[in-house]
Amino acid sequence: MRNPQLNAAGELTHLLTLEDLPAEVISRILDTAVPFASIAERDVKKVPLLRGRSVFNLFFENSTRTRTTFEIAAKRLSADVINLNIGASSTSKGETLLDTVDNLVAMNADMFVVRHAQSGAPHLIAAHLNRTGRTHVHVVNAGDGRHAHPTQGLLDLFTIRHYKQDFHRLTVAIVGDVLHSRVARSLIHGLTTLGTPEVRVIGPKTLLPTAVASLGVQVFHDMREGLAGCDVVVMLRLQNERMKGALLPSAGEYFKHYGLTPEKLALAKPDAIVMHPGPMNRGVEIDSAVADGERSVILPQVTFGIAVRMAVMSMLAGN
Ligand code: CP
Repeated sequence: MRNPQLNAAGELTHLLTLEDLPAEVISRILDTAVPFASIAERDVKKVPLLRGRSVFNLFFENSTRTRTTFEIAAKRLSADVINLNIGASSTSKGETLLDTVDNLVAMNADMFVVRHAQSGAPHLIAAHLNRTGRTHVHVVNAGDGRHAHPTQGLLDLFTIRHYKQDFHRLTVAIVGDVLHSRVARSLIHGLTTLGTPEVRVIGPKTLLPTAVASLGVQVFHDMREGLAGCDVVVMLRLQNERMKGALLPSAGEYFKHYGLTPEKLALAKPDAIVMHPGPMNRGVEIDSAVADGERSVILPQVTFGIAVRMAVMSMLAGN
């Protein structure tokens, strides 16, 4: 069966997940993002690649980084950007997701950037557009439930490649609430596809998926053991909004065992970088001394997110 994200010529038509996306497509996106990153240093931060195209941001869940960087990215590509105010839209009157999409396509939408609490919502829209012959309209998944956050995975890969160059010699640790994390899932798929030899997940049993090892990762419950010799440490937030019932004794107890402190970071390699997709909860999963420390690349991740999202939208538009 053909990958629903690629057309017959192997070109990207939607970006829904990094799972099953070939390494050469992921690498092409990262390579395409490199020149876009340097546009930020120019006086005029615009290129005409999406001139005349309309990008609709449909965020059914809150966002600071993803929504804003998609908007900046689309504007730098000279697209018209429409941020649908979901709270004030007719979805509150019972309109279905697909009826909303059909109405926006009737307004000549070219691209939808979709965040939704339900896993699969962006896939549903993409399948609907494909089925009804509107293959010129593209969908980008901006985070669906606990399933996938492909552009976050890509910007994380871009950040790792920027600081560490080669994936083939790296040990990457992903720490915390992997169970509820679409970011972790996308990053694991990206890292393993690009040939990272050692991807570790670290967390309590209650916050790791039961079959997580089948994703090609090593599992650690002791953070000190898991951090030993790592090149990259990716911290995750406790995603309380997706937890059903109490999975932890307390935030204080969690920080004691799984919070990243300078003392625990000292177990990783001396040049290890620290990443976090945001939003951060200081004093819960990360100590401020680490979050604001010299090995933190948390804010560069956000900046790289603009270039990576420009690359994705530009490639979807056929450039
Ligand atoms: N990393 C991330 O998805 O952040 P936002 O929820 O602010 O978009």
